[in-house]
Amino acid sequence: TRTPVNVTVTGAAGQIGYALLFRIASGHLLGPDTPVRLRLLEIPQAVKAAEGTAMELDDCAFPLLAGVDIFDDATAAFDGVNVALLVGARPRTKGMERGDLLEANGGIFKPQGAAINAGAADDVRVLVVGNPANTNALIAQAHAPDVPAARFTAMTRLDHNRALSQLAAKLSVPVSAIRKMTIWGNHSATQYPDLYHTEVNGKIAAEQVEDGWLRDEFIPTVAKRGAAIIEARGASSAASAANAAIDHIHTWVHGTPEGDWTSMAVVSDGSYGVPEGLISSFPVVAKGGEWEIVQGLDINDFSRQRIDASVAELAEERDAVSSLGLL
Ligand code: NAI
Repeated sequence: TRTPVNVTVTGAAGQIGYALLFRIASGHLLGPDTPVRLRLLEIPQAVKAAEGTAMELDDCAFPLLAGVDIFDDATAAFDGVNVALLVGARPRTKGMERGDLLEANGGIFKPQGAAINAGAADDVRVLVVGNPANTNALIAQAHAPDVPAARFTAMTRLDHNRALSQLAAKLSVPVSAIRKMTIWGNHSATQYPDLYHTEVNGKIAAEQVEDGWLRDEFIPTVAKRGAAIIEARGASSAASAANAAIDHIHTWVHGTPEGDWTSMAVVSDGSYGVPEGLISSFPVVAKGGEWEIVQGLDINDFSRQRIDASVAELAEERDAVSSLGLL
């Protein structure tokens, strides 16, 4: 039998955690041949709730689940970690300025980055889900100098999946007819879902929909979907966010299908004019456990403006956390 893979999940007692842990334990994260050991990190007040979730994990008798350990200390939780899912974050509360939000999250992601640097396994892969996800990933990465920067990623796969679903509904095709969807930029309202390279049954999506729909319906619907879910459900996306986190890691480890790509927020090498070092969403192919930004796409004026606007927001967030001494 294979050695279990250590998967650390932060914010394990939260709502995404509850939707995520059972799918990891049932084999959806790494596949049906890979046993996993779960390491749950929570703040002390939520450890008891995490213990309750661990009891339920026991009660599922998952054949692939090699064990569950619960921590309230980051250094211990990330010791030996192979896959780190950073879900726990400080939400924006009433009256909180953006600087306060970035600072509060810096207080979480800086020590977590340092703990990953100190104890993670050599093959560690990190996905940041907790918002502001791109900048939280940047903070963690900045404090893990011994880990290759490419191992720190942030999640735009939920946006990607939302875009697939909206386009499929518009064209009355199954999502499986769609290839090469791209989310560019920040996981925020400025994100840019790009249909100019997307193929539906082999033909460019942007040529199969009206410009008005693309600009005034599709883009805002995808970008504001999180708010629409909160409005309808009375709580933010949880099962779909957990599903996207599973998809992100599964694709990273097992690869993108031939002739397709995915969206991941990864450290920029300067591609497409995105300043080097920012963690921005790109079209990405994965192969052999490594990702690569898709090169050579033509970017039209409309796309250029949208990408630039979202990247400008990322640069502002970076400057703000930098001036707070968080980088
Ligand atoms: P939640 O509030 O239900 O759970 C968050 C959990 O994190 C809580 O149990 C809390 O105790 C824990 N936590 C807080 N600080 C921690 C720390 N320092 N270490 C460990 N655990 C800590 O929130 P939910 O709904 O599970 O969402 C989690 C995050 O994911 C939020 O920041 C949310 O905005 C973000 N999100 C991101 C999405 C994306 O597409 N990138 C999509 C949906 C949500």
